[in-house]
Amino acid sequence: MPAPHEDQPSWARPGPGHGLPPARPNPSLYSHRNMRLLYTPLVIGFSHPWMWGISNSMIRDLYRTHTAPAHVEVGPGNAHWLRRLGPRRVDLIDLNRDCLRVSHDRLDRRGWQVNVHEQSATAPWPLEEENVGSVGSSMLLHCLPGTGFGDKLAFFTEARRVLHRGGRLFGTTVLGRNDPAPISRLGARMRAAYNRTGAFTNPGDTAADLHQVLERVFGPGQATVRVQGVTALFEATR
Ligand SMILES: C[S@@+](CC[C@H](N)C(=O)[O-])C[C@H]1O[C@@H](n2cnc3c(N)ncnc32)[C@H](O)[C@@H]1O
Repeated sequence: MPAPHEDQPSWARPGPGHGLPPARPNPSLYSHRNMRLLYTPLVIGFSHPWMWGISNSMIRDLYRTHTAPAHVEVGPGNAHWLRRLGPRRVDLIDLNRDCLRVSHDRLDRRGWQVNVHEQSATAPWPLEEENVGSVGSSMLLHCLPGTGFGDKLAFFTEARRVLHRGGRLFGTTVLGRNDPAPISRLGARMRAAYNRTGAFTNPGDTAADLHQVLERVFGPGQATVRVQGVTALFEATR
């Protein structure tokens, strides 16, 4: 029997996050060793172009264009995208302690002013309102629990809350099987496997739904979503 409200887009269903299992850390996947040594070559170097069809130069451009002097990064991984930029003030939010450790150490060494917050992206962020000029989040949304972006709404409302007027939310995410974006056979197999193991929760994540959630939170005309391969690159202005 279909779940109640399943026929509606996820952003239109009542109670974002209602009845979902809480996000849990995954310390064996996101271990200190994996994040320091394996994540960049295997995930960024291989999976991005070959499984998800996104060129890393597009992600690099997002960060170069939008990262403000005071920034929040949600799900920083190993800080691959930030460490290439000049030092700034940054708040890192991540569920996995080793991602925070590796990212903190890499950025601190390069002169960044770094605060870390070990928590889920969908729990309230311990940051003041209108506190920063940008919020970045690359390849995080497909990890958050939910039947679609509507269940991940708390991430978007927290991002808007901490941004100054004119500040930018930006990022990338892998779209789910309900999205019509083309995907290679290898990509489809891996996406299904990651959804089975819980590394991803994105079957209901579509680009159209992402755009609607962003416009609902940031206002009409305030968001853009581009599809590249089976990923979405998104931007929204407060
Ligand atoms: C696939 S990695 C992406 C890493 C990095 N942003 C990149 O693009 O290379 C996902 C990141 O999100 C974090 N993460 C996963 N679920 C999370 C959640 N519920 N709340 C906060 N961070 C989460 C992981 O620990 C990891 O740092």
